[in-house]
Amino acid sequence: MNICRTINQLTQAVNEFKQQNKTIGLVPTMGALHEGHKSLFERARKENDIFIASVFVNPVQFNNPEDLEKYPRSEEQDLQMLETCGCDAVFVPSAEEVYQGQEVETWHFGQLEQVMEGKQRPGHFSGVANIVSRLFKWIMPDRAYFGEKDFQQIAIIRDMVSQMQSPVEIVACPIYRESDGLAASSRNRRLSPQARLMAPKIHYILTKSFEQKDALSLSQIKSFVEHEFDKYKDFELEYFLLVDDKTLQPVRQRSVNQGIVGCLAVWLDGVRLIDIQRYW
Ligand code: PAJ
Repeated sequence: MNICRTINQLTQAVNEFKQQNKTIGLVPTMGALHEGHKSLFERARKENDIFIASVFVNPVQFNNPEDLEKYPRSEEQDLQMLETCGCDAVFVPSAEEVYQGQEVETWHFGQLEQVMEGKQRPGHFSGVANIVSRLFKWIMPDRAYFGEKDFQQIAIIRDMVSQMQSPVEIVACPIYRESDGLAASSRNRRLSPQARLMAPKIHYILTKSFEQKDALSLSQIKSFVEHEFDKYKDFELEYFLLVDDKTLQPVRQRSVNQGIVGCLAVWLDGVRLIDIQRYW
């Protein structure tokens, strides 16, 4: 595995692959890799001649300095996992290397960023677009892989690709869950053992609401989920919204064939967790 720490090293490696007419699959990450990331790596490995990953805790997408500081870092283990997953090249730059004193761009995503994570974390998606657009320019992958756990992020990346008129195919991958249903996340390791035992309730509540979806109206599904979280004092629900799966706008009444996804952010033990449930 080629470990690239500079843009030069990266573009050199990419040029060699391109000269050999190889297809490239890219998985961008912020490291602290877990089984969720691994499910993306395996897919990228399988569907492309070359699999490239990036490991970069992107400072410009953190609107909260404490969150950036607390973000787990485990480079040695990360590189080991990537090697095991058959990664051909990994980009592990410093923040100086990526931004090189250049001005950070401001990206706009209209109504896509006015709800949920975009609303709660101002500037977050512009920060995500800053790094992902650069990675796309340097690597020019055929496909790039993103997890549906960050459902809004995928919609934003699709919009970014269309604003850039980039030919990169965006591949949405299902959520990898631990055996008790908790969506794998690098934040899970910040939970106390007791909170870790509570955390699978998130998926449990969403599943219970899914099972009743045909008997309930959308507002009843929303109330059901909010009420269930209210029952547990350990949880503080930040939002739960039923949104159109493309526009991400909250839906009151479902139209025929409309795709609807429930998205939530919830606090547990000082840790902010997100999850989703597709209803239709
Ligand atoms: P990070 O949180 O490291 O996630 C990298 C990718 O792994 C994202 O596409 C995310 O949705 C996916 N992922 C995380 N947990 C998952 C799970 N349990 N199942 C399936 N996929 C999962 O998302 C980011 O980094 C950053 O915003 C990034 C896109 C790298 C830009 O900095």
